[in-house]
Parts: sequence; C-alpha cells; structure tokens
Amino acid sequence: MRDVEWIAAEQRLTGTVSVSMHGGVLTQVANWRGQRVLVKTLLTTDPDSAARFEHEGQVAAALRHPLIVPLLAQSPTQLFFPLVPGGPLRERLDAGRLTVREAVSVLRGILRALVNMHAQGVVHQDLKPENIVLAGGKTRCGAVRIIDFGMSHARHLPLDIHSGTRMGTPHYMAPEQFQGVRGDPRSDLYSAGVILFEALAGHPPYEDALGWLIGTRKERAELPGPPELHPLMLGAMSRDPAGRPASAQAMLDELALACVRLGLPTLTARPMPLPFAP
Ligand SMILES: Nc1ncnc2c1ncn2[C@@H]1O[C@H](COP(=O)(O)OP(=O)(O)O)[C@@H](O)[C@H]1O
Ligand SMILES: [Mg+2]
Repeated sequence: MRDVEWIAAEQRLTGTVSVSMHGGVLTQVANWRGQRVLVKTLLTTDPDSAARFEHEGQVAAALRHPLIVPLLAQSPTQLFFPLVPGGPLRERLDAGRLTVREAVSVLRGILRALVNMHAQGVVHQDLKPENIVLAGGKTRCGAVRIIDFGMSHARHLPLDIHSGTRMGTPHYMAPEQFQGVRGDPRSDLYSAGVILFEALAGHPPYEDALGWLIGTRKERAELPGPPELHPLMLGAMSRDPAGRPASAQAMLDELALACVRLGLPTLTARPMPLPFAP
C-alpha cells in the first residue's frame, strides 16, 4: 500500500463546484492546499455507504500507475484526488465518434491500466466513459486516467461488500457481473470491448442493454470500424467470459496485432530511452 496522507479532521474546502451526489457521497472540485482537487465527501452515517466509501479509499490507496488517478490524502469522511484537467471520455464521445487511431489509442491506455490493476488483484467493475478521464482532453494512450473505484473488487480486502448485489451500468456491465459474479478480471475486458464499440460507432452495442443482460433481447447493432478490429471487439464482448481474451495483456497483444494489420502505430506511450545522452 502507498503512503497516503491521513488527516484526522474533515478539511475545509474553498472554491467548490459540485460534480455529483449519490450513495451518500458528494463529489466536488475544490481548492485544497493551493491546488485544484477532486474531493469525495461522505455525507451519511449509513453503515453500508460508509463501508463502500472506506473500500473505495483503500483500493485507490493501493494502486500506483501513471494511467490510474492516485489518492492524495484522506480524512475520516473525505477522499482527495488530484484534478485531471481535460474532462471525461463521456464528454468527448458526446461530441462525436473517435477515429480508428484515437479509439485504438484510448483502448490501449485502458488496457495498460488494467494489466497493472489486475496484477494487483483489483477488478474495476465499473469501467465506462464517465470513469475514464482524458488528460488535456487528448484521445491518446498516455492521456488515459482511470478513476472511481467505488464498485471495485479487491482480492486483498477481506470483506467483499458488493457480493450478492447488482451494481454497475447496464451498457458496460458484463453479463456474469449482472448475475452477481464478482472479481473476474475478464468482466473489465467486456467493458473495454463495449467502450471500443461505442468510441467507433457513436453509440453502445445494445439499445436495450438490460434486455440483453437478462437474455430476452439478442439484437446487437452492426459492428463499427474496420473488420481488422471485429474479432477483438466480438471476443471481448462475448457473453461467456471464456470467449474473451484470457487477460488484459492478451487483449493488448491482440490489439497490437490488429494495429499492424491496419498499418497503425503499435508503440505505447512508454517513454522511449534516448539512444545517447543529449
Ligand atoms: N481526478 C479527477 N480529475 C478530473 N475529473 C474527475 C476526477 N475524478 C472524477 N472526475 C469527474 O467527476 C465525475 C464523478 O467522479 P467519480 O469518481 O466517477 O464519482 P461517482 O461515484 O459520482 O461516479 C467523473 O465522471 C469525472 O467526470
Ligand atoms: Mg463514476
């Protein structure tokens, strides 16, 4: 676990702008110690909400990756994150579809974060365009920032507070997750497949997502984008987790292969070593 500053008392905030409010948690942008931060504040004493809030803080504190927004500090009722300027992928998709190059690049960023997260025993379980921020508004691999571990499953945490409950957002939720299965990393790969679909099509694959999850509706919109990406998209979105890539790394490898076929760059945003000292 990283060293996250523990602050004993609830912090006074200035310059607050409310972002959302649900599950007894208020999300705000605020000034704190001279920087703009994203603060989540627990406003209820309901034990379930408090347990979920604590869980979110513990998971966020345990992760460290350039494409995952870190927890800066926490008080008994607040979680502080650095504010990533740029806006969520949702906002970008609302403005129009991505090009193939952009969609592939954003997917690569999501998968790179997932490789790290899954290796640390964490499954996000609520990946969707609202929970992906694009630093600087850029549709690039290195600009991807994953947020919101409020519904995540962590192998290292003794209590699975979400077991038996149905959570998530129907369009992006894997069918087994809808059935109550928690902690399968392949559920995140399903969501990543839906995000790729939506980024290229401009809409999610199922009009009636709930009907599809229940199994009463079978129709899926036509696969968007170039055929080179279709096996990856179909595989990731298969109803049965066994039909999906075995891991985020396997999906990343499949994506790299598709990029070669498409003549797109396969390099990730990893900084390249200089051939000689400048
Ligand atoms: N660190 C951040 N930087 C910039 N925007 C953020 C950050 N964290 C969250 N947001 C924005 O706030 C919204 C709500 O935050 P989120 O953590 O997803 O909380 P909720 O539990 O309300 O879904 C996100 O959809 C995103 O637009
Ligand atoms: Mg969210």
